[in-house]
Amino acid sequence: MGRLATPPMTDKPIEPDSEIKKVALGISGGIAAYKAAEVLRGLQRAGYSVRVAMTKRACEFIQPLTFRALSGAHVIVDDYAPDNPDPIAHITFSQTVDLLIVAPATANIIAKFANGVADDFLSSTYLACTAPVLIAPAMNPTMWGHPATQRNLSRLRTDGVRIVEPDSGEMACGTIGPGRLNDPERIVAAAVELLAYGRRAQDLAGERFLITTGATREELDPVRFISNRSSGRMGFAVAEAALSRGAYVSVVAGVTSANSPNGVRVARALSADEMHEAVMKELPEATVFISAAAVADYRPAQRAAAKIKKSEASLVLTLERTRDILGEVACARTNGLLVIGFAAETNDVLINAQEKLREKNLDVIVANDVTRGDAGFDSSENAITIVRRDAQGPLELPLMSKLEAAHRILDEIVRLRANSSRL
Ligand code: CTP
Repeated sequence: MGRLATPPMTDKPIEPDSEIKKVALGISGGIAAYKAAEVLRGLQRAGYSVRVAMTKRACEFIQPLTFRALSGAHVIVDDYAPDNPDPIAHITFSQTVDLLIVAPATANIIAKFANGVADDFLSSTYLACTAPVLIAPAMNPTMWGHPATQRNLSRLRTDGVRIVEPDSGEMACGTIGPGRLNDPERIVAAAVELLAYGRRAQDLAGERFLITTGATREELDPVRFISNRSSGRMGFAVAEAALSRGAYVSVVAGVTSANSPNGVRVARALSADEMHEAVMKELPEATVFISAAAVADYRPAQRAAAKIKKSEASLVLTLERTRDILGEVACARTNGLLVIGFAAETNDVLINAQEKLREKNLDVIVANDVTRGDAGFDSSENAITIVRRDAQGPLELPLMSKLEAAHRILDEIVRLRANSSRL
């Protein structure tokens, strides 16, 4: 097994370790195979040593010689080939690397990985691999959307494989939709993240997380409601990250379009009132409360029992304040409960977040600018700023996956715990 990476305790940006990491780059047979050369170059620029494995079909799109020249090493296609210098290459290759990346990953190789089929060098390597695995799928949009492919991907996620989702756009076959290999730079960035923090210690073992996520829905009548654009992805990412670091995790979810991670307990609560009730019920067990839900601040003062009919030219709605769940939790905290809030802002992001941190008496507030098109609501990425009550400046992080952003928030929790145990 690879070495455990220590979680970062400082504000330093992500940097590859000083020890040179070894990356295995697998290439399967799709038109995007030529882009693997850019992935290889990017990995080398990031300071990694890269070995390449290709499927036979990949060799029809691009010659192994290209990768041999770029990597300076033999490219393995078939471990039975007479020119293969290692007789049990799929074992030595897979168990001496720090990361296995497959880019592009075709529907076929994904299906093989998901089902444990090991009928060629790359699929045997996957099965024998003890390092983290990252795949970047690329295929025709219909193949991508097929329930069989989605089922295989979900199995791989459960098995711990990291997936760099494909882009949407015009494909080589002329169709438009999701399936285009993601940008090589993004694939390299995901590899750097995974190598730096992929195997974090179980540094949250013993903590019990209570996390709210998603939007609340405040009903006007039996068919109408007031809600917001939150997808629940950020809260679920925090849940997934905390679970992987050994915490027990319970989520109170409002309306969400994202999938909840396996292994996490999820209670549903649609309105702000229901969420308040569910949180207060679970709170006595919690050691960390993270309020990632976009809770409505106001709800209709009255819910009509029957559908409201149109009559006048205008309709005035009277709204009343909901209870501030986060504020109440922070106010009543006991026994070292850590309380973390979120501030989704459109302007004066930092000033507003700092004010909320003070007003609500929080340990940490995570601020983000929801006017950015590439981050925030319903996006798989986020650019967050972590504002800490006990630390000097805010920690402004670049655009990264929500899962990685979640890990950075958790790093703050680990730091806070370490500081309080020193007091
Ligand atoms: N929150 C909550 N209960 C509410 C409203 C918000 O728990 N009724 C939590 C959110 O989950 C988030 C934080 O409070 O963690 C956001 O703080 P808040 O000041 O309520 O932000 P906004 O709702 O955006 O308020 P404003 O419109 O004043 O900016």
